[in-house]
Amino acid sequence: MNYITTPIYYVNGDPHIGSAYTTLVADVFARYAKFKGEDTFFLTGTDEHGAKIAEAAAKAGKEPQAFTNEISAKFAAAWRDLNIQPDGFIRTTDPKHKACVQKFLQNLFDAGHIYKGEYKGWYCTGCEEFKTETQIGENNTCPIHLTPLTEVAEEAYLFKLSAFESRIREAIESGAFRISPESRKNEVLGFIKHEGLRDVAISRKNVTWGVPLPWDESHTVYVWVDALLNYVSAADSTGPDFESKKRPQFPPALQIIGKDILRFHALIWPAILFAAELPLPKELFVHGYFTSGGQKMSKSLGNVITPKELIDRYGVDATRWLLATAVPFGSDGDLTLERLDEKYNSDLANNLGNLVSRVTSMLVRYREGKVPEAINVPLRQIEETRTSLDAAYGATDLTKVTDTLRLHADCINKYIEDERPWALAKTDQAKLDEVLANLAENVFVLACFVTPFLPNTADIILAGFGTSVSQVDYVTLGKANHTAGKIIPPLEPLFPRFAN
Ligand code: MSP
Repeated sequence: MNYITTPIYYVNGDPHIGSAYTTLVADVFARYAKFKGEDTFFLTGTDEHGAKIAEAAAKAGKEPQAFTNEISAKFAAAWRDLNIQPDGFIRTTDPKHKACVQKFLQNLFDAGHIYKGEYKGWYCTGCEEFKTETQIGENNTCPIHLTPLTEVAEEAYLFKLSAFESRIREAIESGAFRISPESRKNEVLGFIKHEGLRDVAISRKNVTWGVPLPWDESHTVYVWVDALLNYVSAADSTGPDFESKKRPQFPPALQIIGKDILRFHALIWPAILFAAELPLPKELFVHGYFTSGGQKMSKSLGNVITPKELIDRYGVDATRWLLATAVPFGSDGDLTLERLDEKYNSDLANNLGNLVSRVTSMLVRYREGKVPEAINVPLRQIEETRTSLDAAYGATDLTKVTDTLRLHADCINKYIEDERPWALAKTDQAKLDEVLANLAENVFVLACFVTPFLPNTADIILAGFGTSVSQVDYVTLGKANHTAGKIIPPLEPLFPRFAN
């Protein structure tokens, strides 16, 4: 099964453009797989325990559960607003998840992978992480949050992470556990080589907002272990139930995360799976970080861009496209509204939108909207695009996917320039039929290909041809004709130019 996951997000603040990005690209991969007819489950959710959330709830003057209910609902709503359609939305405060976490850890404890000891180190509550020597900034501060670290020395249960070092290294080196892009794989291997793996605390003695350890209720499960196990409990037959009534099948095929949480997913996560004798995920894809106007997005700098702001400015589909393609997939990048405005005009208004209105208005002008009956329409470009899309999605290369889509649109535009339908209208009606039929089919197929990014737009275009994407079988694209004889009405401009 194609089991695709995102991180589960902390509910200490409202949904952010960064978490929207990860969830959106996961949605694109899931929609593509579903369109191809693959059995797919897309999981996202919220991470609701730990000191950081308890502090945020206290600051808001609310009980932690009431507080997390409220913010978790905001995440679900934000994803709905972006037309992101997960098959499961998991919450770590779900009693069924908590029971799975307890069962899982009890098994590891019984099998001797966990022992009682003391954990000493510098802790950042913002990261919910014990920092290693190289992660400590000047004057014992967190280099990410720039806040002072807390020195912790407490009784803790530790997991024997060090015992799995060579198995993890081998799995990553061999590609059995694929970490991409390659630079992230090298980063993890470099960390193992230079710092090595030491045992980690899996419990906290002084944090009460969490899942109690089943064998010692004076401790709660360390929030990161609780969180990583969401990917397991979602797939457990006793785990949380989802609205879709479906359940994923372990292991994940693709896990998409941001670079900030690489070590948890590349080291602790495979180790606990080894300990539990569960298979490792196939691929961990690590994307970069957005900045805004060259700086970290922060409320105090006033440069935060919210998903809602983008939807209000561009509409849902355009926001999906702009966000998913804002930076080369895997790299860091800077977002500014000025650049997004330009990108909207060039990718959507001038390219895709203009192409669709060009083709539909020629059909209306020359054939009263009726797509000429099937003649020998050359569909070679469609086959090439499909092969190249399959390869790009298969390589988890979203930038290649969007380049392929642009290239397809460019080819259709070039075809119009080469064939000059306006001239053919005066000289060669049979040839004009062939060109219009070819253009109609290509626009139809292009709409299908862009559907993971632009689901509403694709359906508006296909509605013009009297159908919808859900009725189209992916394998027929480029093989069968879907448009001959259809009568299409003139379409409103899909993406009106954005004037500043
Ligand atoms: N709760 C943990 C994850 C547990 S997963 C088992 C967590 N949550 S988080 O709310 O802080 O989300 C972090 C994730 O949000 C990043 O990995 C990334 O996916 C996304 N982003 C948050 N800010 C971002 C940017 N500025 N840019 C891009 N993505 C970022 O960590």
